[in-house]
Amino acid sequence: MSPPPDPSFDITAYRRALGGFATGVCVVTAHTAEGPFGITVNSFTSVSLRPPLVLWCLDRASDRHNAFAAADRFAIHMLPAEDREMSDRFAWGVCRLSSEEFDSSSIEPPRLMNALTRLDCVANDRIVMGDHLTIVGAVRRFETRPGAALTYYRGTYGVVGESGE
Ligand SMILES: Cc1cc2nc3c(=O)[nH]c(=O)nc-3n(C[C@H](O)[C@H](O)[C@H](O)COP(=O)(O)O)c2cc1C
Repeated sequence: MSPPPDPSFDITAYRRALGGFATGVCVVTAHTAEGPFGITVNSFTSVSLRPPLVLWCLDRASDRHNAFAAADRFAIHMLPAEDREMSDRFAWGVCRLSSEEFDSSSIEPPRLMNALTRLDCVANDRIVMGDHLTIVGAVRRFETRPGAALTYYRGTYGVVGESGE
C-alpha cells in the first residue's frame, strides 16, 4: 500500500530531475493481439546474469499497454546513433510494423535489422508498480554488433561511443 501523496511533492520538478539520468534508447517489439507493435522505451535495465533477466516499464496509460502487457514474447532493440527517427516513430508515430519491416514468416518477435543489440525475451513476470507495469523478461537469445549508441538526456537525444567501442 502506497503512502498518501504529499501535497508539497512537485511531480513536474521530480520528472525533470529524473531526466538528469542519461540512458540509452530501446524499441521493444512484439506480436500482439492488435498486430506487430513497437514502443520506444528508456526504462530498460539488466537485472540478472544467471539467469539472464531484464526488465522494462510500460506506462499503464499508454494506448499500447494492453497489447504489450499480454505479449508472452518480446524483443528489445538497443538503438544505434542513426536511429533517432525510429525512436520518434515508435514513441509518437505509427507503432504498427508493416510486413516488409520484418520476417513475417517467423513466430519470433519482429526484428529491427539495424539494432546495436537485440535481446529475444520470454515474459517471466509482470508487476504493477504505481502508474507503470514492470515487465521482466528471460533472455533466450541475443545478437550484438559494434557502433555508436543513441542516448537520451534531459529530453534530448545524443550519441555516445563514436568509435563504436
Ligand atoms: C526516449 C523515450 C523513452 C521512453 N520510455 C518509455 C518507457 O520506458 N516506458 C513507456 O511506457 N513509455 C516510454 N516512452 C513513451 C512511449 O514511447 C510512448 O510515447 C507512450 O507510451 C505513449 O504511447 P501511446 O501513443 O500508445 O499512448 C518513451 C518515449 C521516449 C521518446
